Amino acid sequence: MKVLLTGGAGFIGSHTCVELVSKDFDAVIVDNFSNSDPGVIERCEKITGRKIKYHDADVADKAAMRRIFAEEKFDAVIHFAGYKAVGESVAKPLMYYRNNLDTTLTLLEVMKEYGVDIFVFSSSATVYGDKNPVPFTEDMPTSTTNPYGTTKLFIEKILTDAAAADKDLSVVLLRYFNPIGAHESGLIGENPKGIPNNLMPYIAQVASGIRDKLHVFGNDFNTHDGTGVRDYIHVTDLAKGHVKALEYAADKTGCEIFNLGTGTGYSVLDIVNAFEKATGINIPYVIDGRRAGDIDESRADASKAERVLGWKAEKTLLDMCADTWNWQKNIK
Ligand code: UFG
Repeated sequence: MKVLLTGGAGFIGSHTCVELVSKDFDAVIVDNFSNSDPGVIERCEKITGRKIKYHDADVADKAAMRRIFAEEKFDAVIHFAGYKAVGESVAKPLMYYRNNLDTTLTLLEVMKEYGVDIFVFSSSATVYGDKNPVPFTEDMPTSTTNPYGTTKLFIEKILTDAAAADKDLSVVLLRYFNPIGAHESGLIGENPKGIPNNLMPYIAQVASGIRDKLHVFGNDFNTHDGTGVRDYIHVTDLAKGHVKALEYAADKTGCEIFNLGTGTGYSVLDIVNAFEKATGINIPYVIDGRRAGDIDESRADASKAERVLGWKAEKTLLDMCADTWNWQKNIK
């Protein structure tokens, strides 16, 4: 099966590319490298021992996408490309709506023109909002607290409507929990530009001496130690979930939603302790005030993915920390 990976040079896209190529899928990347670089693809080639084709193009550029679809003759699409920083989305909402919605609409239109009808989408647990009790199940009501999350929710709705109207279309919406870790080779991982927004990249930069200390955003949440609890998932497990989702999507039509998480929650301080244990490096931290929009706890009910896709996360928190460090320590 020939699969287009939009944003395939990004953190989750690159790990999924490696898993797909290792399973003999033909993966082709389209990326405009706005938040990644082509060196990532070379490193995916090193891991897999296979040549990986890519196009440097913007998914919202319809003429470019038509050319690529005409040349490649894809069977399926996994759509990772998109802006993803929560704080930036609050400051620049129009940029987020324009980019994340335009890319998706263009992709769906071009897919229709070229008869491609299998679509897997990178959604997020952020669509569970701040009102649902944990663990989150796929049938819970959705809401969002920032424009980034709203783009994910709007795209879910667009895809749901498109699948209802087009009986040939098969859509799978994957709601990711908190992806961390890196490929065990240490060749690919997460390398955010500037100050990291997310916990694990920040801890990794403290460990490597780029930042002095971690700022823990609040210790008055309703959790076992007062710090926020999240469902962290190893990016390789997440990537394997995409392979299962693609195989599932290829066999049916309609629209189906799956949580990709472990079902276990860890607090910020649990993560700090696990990182210290996995690496032997001390992570100094201070307790600061809460970050706007943060909830007490986010955790998946991951049973649907296990039951329907036959997928279950396997890696432990120590694996996630050790692999993060194995990657981070080599970043110049
Ligand atoms: N945190 C800190 N200090 C930091 C960064 C984070 O204490 O420097 C805390 C947060 O307050 C939270 C936890 O660490 O309790 C995790 O924060 P992240 O920013 O790593 O992750 P979030 O759960 O806020 O966000 C992630 C993704 C979003 C997605 C969201 C919900 O980054 O894309 O999960 O699924 F929308």
